[in-house]
Amino acid sequence: MLKYEVLKILLASSSHISGQTISNRLGVSRTAVWKAVNALKNDGYNIESVNNRGYLLLENKGILNRIEIEQCMHSYKYKTLPKVIYFNQIDSTNTYAKKAADSITSDFLVVANTQTLGKGRLGRSWTSPGTTSISMSLCIRPDLPLEKASMITLVMAASLCDAIEELYSTKPLIKWPNDIVVNSKKICGILTEMSSDIDGIKYIISGVGINVNNDEFPADIANTASSLLIETGIVMDRARLIASVIYHFYENFDIFLQTEDMTSIKAKYESHLANVGRKVRILDPKGEYNATALGIDETGALLVNADGKIKRIISGEVSV
Ligand code: BTN
Repeated sequence: MLKYEVLKILLASSSHISGQTISNRLGVSRTAVWKAVNALKNDGYNIESVNNRGYLLLENKGILNRIEIEQCMHSYKYKTLPKVIYFNQIDSTNTYAKKAADSITSDFLVVANTQTLGKGRLGRSWTSPGTTSISMSLCIRPDLPLEKASMITLVMAASLCDAIEELYSTKPLIKWPNDIVVNSKKICGILTEMSSDIDGIKYIISGVGINVNNDEFPADIANTASSLLIETGIVMDRARLIASVIYHFYENFDIFLQTEDMTSIKAKYESHLANVGRKVRILDPKGEYNATALGIDETGALLVNADGKIKRIISGEVSV
């Protein structure tokens, strides 16, 4: 889209740049440049136009689009840069990614400003307010057997913690297996979906929802959910947080691949695991019980001590 080509030029320019220079560079008319600048202004960009000097992009007001995300990604040293697909509004980035995975053969990241049918774990729904939250789904194609797929969710959880620590200097915790909490309130959720065949995993879609700049929550979830803004007081550029999460994901995924299980990344994951050495309640469908959380094993199962017996929790919910 021409407006994004113009945006790239404006982002790279620290002083005014004339409409003529932009039209020469892009091989389009000056009217087309003028229209593209107006479209960017409509999107919310603050662009100064000065006679005889040209255009200057003033401050970034946290606008999210593909170019902003790619621009932030370039400030990290990614080994693999996933293709970025951006929507202002979509039903669910996971649903889109599952359809796109049939035709796109490389890694890709679907990001949406807002979702109308966001999906949570265990068949729940997920609310993704526009302009304040992040909804994204990363599609990767690891050459791994099927039983390793659930571990990718844990790698993503550790990566979310890395990114939050990097940008907010606060210590997020993981509520096993993959909820990220700050001050005991849920900030991020992960929904991993996959497809496999006889050879193993075809693709894995790791869907991540982050409450970033939300300043309020509906009364029914305000006790359990919060945002990074509410907990830290910091307003964050969502593109920056997306770039950091995905960068740390690839970094941690490389570490994971050293052992192809949680062994190589266990220490990092456990350093964020909430309630290690403390009481947790295991919400087992066959009957709830109390136990002491010990850590995870190489498969990512939660190890707990229940009345002197070590148990492996492989699914379900644990309340901390
Ligand atoms: C949870 O229940 O904690 C998981 C929530 C996962 C929500 C994210 S938002 C982006 C992606 N698209 C979806 O429909 N769901 C995931």
